[in-house]
Amino acid sequence: MKPEPLLFAEDLVIRFGGLAALDGVGLRVDRGEVVAVIGPNGSGKTTLFNVVTGLYRPHRGRVVLKGQDVTGLPAHLVARRGVARTFQISRLFLDLSVLDNVLLGCLGRHRPRWLEPLVRPHSSDRRLREVAERAVALLEEVSPELTVRCYRPARELTLAERRRLDLCRALASDPDLLLLDEPSAGMDVRETQALMDEVRALRERRPDLGIALIEHDMTVVRGLADRVVALNYGRKIAEGTFEEVAGSPEVREAYLGA
Ligand SMILES: Nc1ncnc2c1ncn2[C@@H]1O[C@H](COP(=O)(O)OP(=O)(O)OP(=O)(O)O)[C@@H](O)[C@H]1O
Ligand SMILES: [Mg+2]
Repeated sequence: MKPEPLLFAEDLVIRFGGLAALDGVGLRVDRGEVVAVIGPNGSGKTTLFNVVTGLYRPHRGRVVLKGQDVTGLPAHLVARRGVARTFQISRLFLDLSVLDNVLLGCLGRHRPRWLEPLVRPHSSDRRLREVAERAVALLEEVSPELTVRCYRPARELTLAERRRLDLCRALASDPDLLLLDEPSAGMDVRETQALMDEVRALRERRPDLGIALIEHDMTVVRGLADRVVALNYGRKIAEGTFEEVAGSPEVREAYLGA
């Protein structure tokens, strides 16, 4: 019997005015799997992530996470059930330090106990220390360069470093499912290679983590994805291995311009 999927989304439909940004799309991600979502600009990739993470409520279809229906659940509750993401346009707090950005990520899954510092200051201090230690360990795991600069404002980081920090922030909530929206956008070849190495290392360290990534760079897709899903005009036009999808005439016409 096939194990229960980590994420099982089916028949998703969402319309903006007259436009169906998603028109019956499904997405499955298993534990330990990397699924790439590709497609031309405006094909519905980010919208798919927005529906899965509860930012948008679909007009039709359902999102099932670890066997539980989470369709229409608000984003913070979906996050608490183990889904973390990065955004196409970074949403870091640029005036906060590198470390503070990761600490904020830790709040994603764990409900803060606001009164605890007043009623039980010692255990509150201990919890705070534990979270800070975890955040530093995470920075060390993903990027020693970021660790050295952990008290510097995020504003001082290069674009590639900001994306790495965004990844740390997402991982800080200890997710089961990680969604990356164009993680290599704006990176040069060397930075892209480093990103791929990081994702591979991440898979080794966290073999149960499921990852879905939206990517335009086919080198990244080929190098990382176990399975590829191609969208066009809000519909799935192909699914399979990189070779299968890249060889699909519909994909070539829609996406690769061949
Ligand atoms: N909040 C919104 N309001 C109105 N239209 C939207 C909204 N979000 C997405 N759309 C539209 O839905 C379609 C799909 O957008 P989406 O951002 O999902 O595309 P994408 O595949 O991520 O594209 P890109 O590769 O450029 O990031 C586009 O036509 C977009 O303009
Ligand atoms: Mg997008």
